[in-house]
Amino acid sequence: MTAPLPERNDIRIAVIGLGYVGLPLAAAFGRTYPTVGFDIDAARVEQLRRHHDQTLEMSEEELRASTHLECTADAEALRRCNVFIVTVPTPIDEYKRPDLRPLESASRTVGRAISRGGVAIFESTVYPGATEEVCVPIIERESGLRFNEDFHAGYSPERINPGDKEHRLETILKVTSGSTPAAADFVDALYASVITAGTHKASSIRVAEAAKVIENTQRDVNIALINELALIFGRLGIDTHEVLEAAGTKWNFLPFRPGLVGGHCIGVDPYYLTHKAQQIGYHPEVILAGRRINDSMGGHVAQRVVKLMQQRGLHTAGARVLILGLAFKENCPDLRNTRVTDIIDELRTYNVAVDVHDPWVSPAQAQHEYGISPVAEPAQGQYDAVILAVSHRQFVALGADGVRAFGKPGSVVFDVKRALPRDAVDGCL
Ligand SMILES: NC(=O)c1ccc[n+]([C@@H]2O[C@H](COP(=O)([O-])OP(=O)(O)OC[C@H]3O[C@@H](n4cnc5c(N)ncnc54)[C@H](O)[C@@H]3O)[C@@H](O)[C@H]2O)c1
Repeated sequence: MTAPLPERNDIRIAVIGLGYVGLPLAAAFGRTYPTVGFDIDAARVEQLRRHHDQTLEMSEEELRASTHLECTADAEALRRCNVFIVTVPTPIDEYKRPDLRPLESASRTVGRAISRGGVAIFESTVYPGATEEVCVPIIERESGLRFNEDFHAGYSPERINPGDKEHRLETILKVTSGSTPAAADFVDALYASVITAGTHKASSIRVAEAAKVIENTQRDVNIALINELALIFGRLGIDTHEVLEAAGTKWNFLPFRPGLVGGHCIGVDPYYLTHKAQQIGYHPEVILAGRRINDSMGGHVAQRVVKLMQQRGLHTAGARVLILGLAFKENCPDLRNTRVTDIIDELRTYNVAVDVHDPWVSPAQAQHEYGISPVAEPAQGQYDAVILAVSHRQFVALGADGVRAFGKPGSVVFDVKRALPRDAVDGCL
């Protein structure tokens, strides 16, 4: 007989992986349900127990309000749970192939803790099929339970946006799915009980997986198109933003902007889809072309800056350049897959000495991840060029004069984000 799903009044939730996605989710469930938040990073767990979230997604008050949430690095605590939600990273390796090791490891953790009637729900972004082809067999193997008879599965992708205080977990409509119609109803009702914006029940786990991965692929390809236009208009001497402003007056012109595409999602998720496509013998063209263009933008920015310097007679070898911003996006400390490093790497090939200033990021993390020691307070009047790479509000508040003040007289100011007036800078995308 198929094991019954947990009763509504006997739901005990485990959230596995307490990062940008897992913590807000654990906190939301922990306001209503007994919830165990599990992470292998003991230091992170220790901070969360003190109600401090270094990702800045959750305030101390919000964490304290989650009165039924207990954070732990001890997997034993998961044994008392009957719903397991996996929110671990899904990065790519150096060959840009999906690195499923965290997901596989978390599936083993679930397999060791789950018992009859349990439900394993995955939130990590994957390719269509990954939950049932990769994760479920691991849970079966570890637990000795049979899928869809002894335990059930679901997939509910996350849509949060780091640093975005307007679109929060509860206010973003959530896609849900399950491995059987009953499991899908269970998963949908569970999320509907905490997501005020409502839910959309997809017809299968694979549909929900595919929906998530194309949300970010669509953004990536659209930004790549605008980046390609910026490369063309730059050569034509036309201001890309003026073109976009004019074209944007048409009702169906989409408002994308050129720029670096970094972070844990948009620059990574398309590779999950292209990996699966290639596995089944289809070689994606548009998606990978978009990825190549977006990945080339950091190098392009550096070359534009070098050209502007040379046009002014500034020697690049030995020059000092200040980069404002290292995080992958504005007003958040997230350094994952930041493409600002491409600007730095390219500038260094010209023997330029690069300083980076970013008041949002952890200097220890910048050093650990990228070997970069950010400058806490850049000196004024010292640099041959200043690149505004990330439009943190502190940099925007400086204004063009404040940004230019870091440079020597006659230095170059390049505005990647178009955060400053065009006529106050020397170049922009
Ligand atoms: N950050 C976003 O904006 C966002 C948005 C939508 C979807 N996603 C997806 O959600 C998933 C998680 O992303 P994130 O940004 O929260 O990642 P993250 O790096 O912020 O957090 C992941 C956490 O999981 C922990 N972890 C890693 N392996 C583990 C394991 N085996 N067991 C337990 N804990 C483990 C890490 O220590 C870390 O604290 C990814 O698949 C990502 O693509 C992220």
